[in-house]
Parts: sequence; structure tokens; C-alpha cells
Amino acid sequence: MRVRPRLDGVAFIALAAAAASWAGAARAQQVSTTVRALAATCAACHGTDGRAIEGAAVPGLAGMPQLYLAEQMNAFKNGTRQATLMHQIAKGYSPAQIEQLAAYFAAQKR
Ligand code: HEC
Repeated sequence: MRVRPRLDGVAFIALAAAAASWAGAARAQQVSTTVRALAATCAACHGTDGRAIEGAAVPGLAGMPQLYLAEQMNAFKNGTRQATLMHQIAKGYSPAQIEQLAAYFAAQKR
């Protein structure tokens, strides 16, 4: 009779752990879907997942250092880096989105 509550406890912990990891996976999935959707808005010019389109004048973003990427986006946004297009594009992204984009492209293989 002393074994039963212990088993219930173990079962509860196992269930709780399973639920927590499921919730974590669901959250991770949601974030990556959002970031991929954001990154797709850059693909027309910078290539799919930031891999430069062959022969294109626009640079690729894949594998660029995360900090450099974020700094350039912020520089475009606040006008400290002159651009033909990016100063307008960068204005459409929040600081959090810029961080997410920088992390995403930095993690892509060239
Ligand atoms: C309409 C085309 C276009 C789109 C869309 C676009 N870019 Fe650009 N991007 C450019 C061009 C052109 C340059 C070169 C700077 C300039 O003249 O605007 C550039 C430059 C950059 C640079 C600087 C690269 C370097 O080598 O210093 C970064 C970083 C960048 N873009 C990030 C992004 C991100 C992130 C997105 C999506 C949110 C994006 N761009 C969407 C055209 C585009």
C-alpha cells in the first residue's frame, strides 16, 4: 500500500515532464515558423535562406555574423548607413524581429 502513492508520483512527474517538453517543442516550432516567414521577406533579393542568387549584385546573408547583421539593419533603420533600398526595408522591422533575423541568417550555411 505504500508503493502506490510513490508510483502515482513517478507517473505524475513523467507526465508533467512529457507535457513540459511537448509545450517547449510547440513553442520552438512556433518561433521558427515566425522567423522563417520573416526571413522569406528577404529572399527575393538576398536569396532563399540568405544564400545569394548567382550573379546577383545583392549580397547573401547566410553565415553572416549575427552582430554584424543586426548592426547593419539598425544602421539602415536609423540612417547611419546609406542605402538604395535597405533603409526603407529595415524600417519595417522591430528590434526583436531584427534580432531574430540576424540569428536566423547567421545560422544558415552559405
Ligand atoms: C528589394 C530587395 C531587398 C530586400 C527585400 C531585402 N534587401 Fe537587404 N539589401 C538589398 C540591397 C540592394 C542591399 C545593398 C544596400 C542597399 O543599397 O540598399 C542590401 C543589403 C543588406 C544588408 C547589408 C549586407 C552587407 O554586406 O553589409 C543586410 C544585413 C540586409 N540587406 C539585410 C536584409 C534583411 C534581413 C532583409 C529582410 C528583412 C532584407 N535585407 C531584404 C536589397 C534587399
